[in-house]
Amino acid sequence: MTTNTLQGKALVTGASSGIGATYARQLAAKGLDLVLVARDQARLDTLAQTLAADFGVAVEVVKADLTQAAELQALEQRLLTDSSISVLINNAGMTVEGGYVDADPARVEAMIQLNVLAPTRLSMAAAKAMAARGQGAIVNLASVVALIPEQFAGAYGATKAFVLGLTQSLATELADKGVRVQGVLPGLTRTEIFERSGHDLAALPPEWVMEVEDMVAAAIKGFEMGEGLTLPSLPDMADFAAYDKARLAMGPRLSLSNPAPRYR
Ligand SMILES: NC(=O)c1ccc[n+]([C@@H]2O[C@H](COP(=O)([O-])OP(=O)(O)OC[C@H]3O[C@@H](n4cnc5c(N)ncnc54)[C@H](OP(=O)(O)O)[C@@H]3O)[C@@H](O)[C@H]2O)c1
Repeated sequence: MTTNTLQGKALVTGASSGIGATYARQLAAKGLDLVLVARDQARLDTLAQTLAADFGVAVEVVKADLTQAAELQALEQRLLTDSSISVLINNAGMTVEGGYVDADPARVEAMIQLNVLAPTRLSMAAAKAMAARGQGAIVNLASVVALIPEQFAGAYGATKAFVLGLTQSLATELADKGVRVQGVLPGLTRTEIFERSGHDLAALPPEWVMEVEDMVAAAIKGFEMGEGLTLPSLPDMADFAAYDKARLAMGPRLSLSNPAPRYR
């Protein structure tokens, strides 16, 4: 049976800073044990010690570069075999400098490995293990740029549209298997992601930028409300519901045996 309560042990990718570190703190405050994953072992160790001391939860650190096949596969195996992990927060992600014309192709490839391949393989492993147990939760960090890729240069928006599509189809497949799936679509959120890729958050209007504690608290609240998709900034979810209804209403007419009259 699905539950709207996050409980047990959460594995959080990208837990060394920003949204992931904030999820770790807010989940620890709710009493969840944690597995913290990222590349920066020193930062993860410091966070683990703080959370264990502040909240009395068990916190384990796993150093992993999720763009490296062997390290991703090791984490995938952990999700397949460790039945104590009841929540996966698929959060690690990056942007790159520049758009399509001037970006470094190797950096774009790394972004696709981190933003697309890693959450795909990790959510597939978690889905398999959790569906077999009939319980669990998978939370995928997409972005509002999944809905408006024209407003963020380069392939980043496309990686987040992939995460949105993955989340929607995964939720459908797991609907009757006791596993909750939530996609989170933050707007601009104050973290290191911008300075890591040469972007300047300070150049943007402050009313567009949410503090990371507020964003994660809203995302967790959305999970507890039973939402499949959570848009922390959007004032009225009826706007998204109308968009989604129009999208789905096209369904019966999107694949037909004859070309549309305008192409004849
Ligand atoms: N901030 C925003 O405005 C915003 C908006 C919408 C969606 N998001 C999404 O939210 C997620 C978290 O982003 P954030 O804003 O919190 O960024 P952040 O502060 O830069 O955090 C990114 C996290 O990912 C980890 N990471 C980066 N490369 C990695 C790799 N190769 N292997 C493993 N871990 C890696 C980083 O840790 P290490 O460097 O220690 O590995 C860090 O913990 C991302 O998926 C992002 O796309 C952010």
